[in-house]
Amino acid sequence: MTTTLTKGMIQEAADYIRSKSSVTPKLGLILGSGLGVLAEHIDDAVSIAYQDIPYFPQSTVEGHAGELLIGSVQGTPVVLMKGRFHMYEGYGPELTAFPVRVMKALGVSRLLVTNAAGGINTSYEPGDLMLISDHINMTGRNPLVGPNDPELGARFPDMSEAYSRKLREIARQVAYEKDIPLQEGVYVGLLGPSYETPAEIRMFRTLGADAVGMSTVSEVIVARHAGIEVLGISCISNMAAGILDQPLSHEEVIETTDRVREKFLNLVLGIIPKL
Ligand code: 6GU
Repeated sequence: MTTTLTKGMIQEAADYIRSKSSVTPKLGLILGSGLGVLAEHIDDAVSIAYQDIPYFPQSTVEGHAGELLIGSVQGTPVVLMKGRFHMYEGYGPELTAFPVRVMKALGVSRLLVTNAAGGINTSYEPGDLMLISDHINMTGRNPLVGPNDPELGARFPDMSEAYSRKLREIARQVAYEKDIPLQEGVYVGLLGPSYETPAEIRMFRTLGADAVGMSTVSEVIVARHAGIEVLGISCISNMAAGILDQPLSHEEVIETTDRVREKFLNLVLGIIPKL
């Protein structure tokens, strides 16, 4: 089922958020599992519970707090989603990406998305950070299905530079200056919630994927539709199935993101003033 999210609904959500904070954010941040630590570095943050924002879905997964924060990070006005919505929770792709529409209505022109992902590239290790160069949408869904409102974007939006070349160059430069190792690769987005089988992981490697996860692709498709430039960073939280002789667990994902916290924060805090 596709829910048609109209301009009126987007405006209503944006109006509610504006009634709580006078900041006009130019940068949007969506933080994945265990990567919400950046939220502690927002100055004069106003917190709004997702449940209070009109038409916002509710976050249902453990370890994903549901709060929107507005404030500034080192002088840059931001709106930050601490916790995101996933299709495996039962939401359609258009709902998981609704906050991106609302960010656009608030004035956002650039978006930083982060996630925890499984490593497919065998040269990766848990704890690596990976700049997303491109994605493969394997969710079987697209958030733009349904009637297109030309005021929101094109019917057939271009995806040839989904993850901005210019923003990736900035991220690489910051990582170099701070001596933070940074992989760069292709993220394949799946529906979940089960992890993949070893045979599926071999297939995705053959198809050119370096990391796998259950988020991000819908948000990025909507962001590009809305003309927002995107930067994506994955934290490789574990190796995907069949690479190491051990089962996968959500605990490992959380443990690794905890361990990577400082490095991740250092990188992102370096990037934000340049966005
Ligand atoms: Cl191995 N697969 C998927 N789909 N999502 C993940 C993951 C793996 N590791 C972290 N998130």
